[in-house]
Amino acid sequence: MSADGQKADQGLVDHQWQAIKTSLTSEVKPKIQGPIQWVRIHNLPDHAYFNHSQHVTAGKVACQQCHGKVENMEVVKQYAPLSMGWCINCHRQTEVKFKDNPFYNDYKKYHEEIKSGKRSKVTVEEIGGLECQKCHY
Ligand code: HEC
Ligand code: HEC
Ligand code: HEC
Repeated sequence: MSADGQKADQGLVDHQWQAIKTSLTSEVKPKIQGPIQWVRIHNLPDHAYFNHSQHVTAGKVACQQCHGKVENMEVVKQYAPLSMGWCINCHRQTEVKFKDNPFYNDYKKYHEEIKSGKRSKVTVEEIGGLECQKCHY
């Protein structure tokens, strides 16, 4: 993806976080306090682990990719199946936003291979996204 595309993605995510923050705070309550209470629609079983920050901050995946166009839904519906196959498929297909992303500084070998032209991309699978213990304790 072009640098501009990445910037646009990041802008979108920042914008979405900002909208969530705005909706949960006010002048008298400037900080989001305590756990946010949701009427839960999505609910993974306890044996599976999912972390939003990993996806949104490190992975720069837009909310809509997993939740659909929430901004157009009057009542939020579950959009994706949330099955193991869904997680795995995306990890196989999705290219990690590797370039200029400090979250991946440890992957020296991949960075060198990209630099030398030996490799053009890194998928989530290649950073361990299909390992059972990453999603199951
Ligand atoms: C890679 C996929 C993915 C992305 C990207 C993602 N989510 Fe999620 N989201 C999930 C999954 C999976 C769950 C269910 C987690 C669980 O049950 O432990 C969830 C649950 C939620 C819930 C709780 C909903 C409910 O019904 O209880 C909210 C709110 C939410 N996500 C908001 C967001 C927002 C806002 C963004 C963007 C900033 C976002 N998500 C990005 C996959 C994603
Ligand atoms: C829309 C694509 C997409 C979907 C769907 C998705 N992921 Fe991911 N996932 C990513 C990307 C991109 C990354 C890389 C970001 C990172 O390094 O944390 C990632 C990283 C992860 C990691 C960290 C892997 C590592 O080696 O550091 C875990 C754990 C994970 N995902 C769990 C899940 C689970 C559980 C689900 C299903 C409930 C899921 N993901 C669904 C795109 C996705
Ligand atoms: C990227 C995340 C991810 C990885 C990697 C992953 N799983 Fe899962 N797994 C899930 C999620 C999410 C569920 C819950 C799916 C659901 O509720 O439909 C699940 C469910 C399961 C279940 C329960 C199935 C059921 O019918 O309830 C088993 C068993 C399982 N996984 C085994 C494994 C094994 C073995 C591996 C490694 C080869 C593995 N998983 C790798 C995300 C993952």
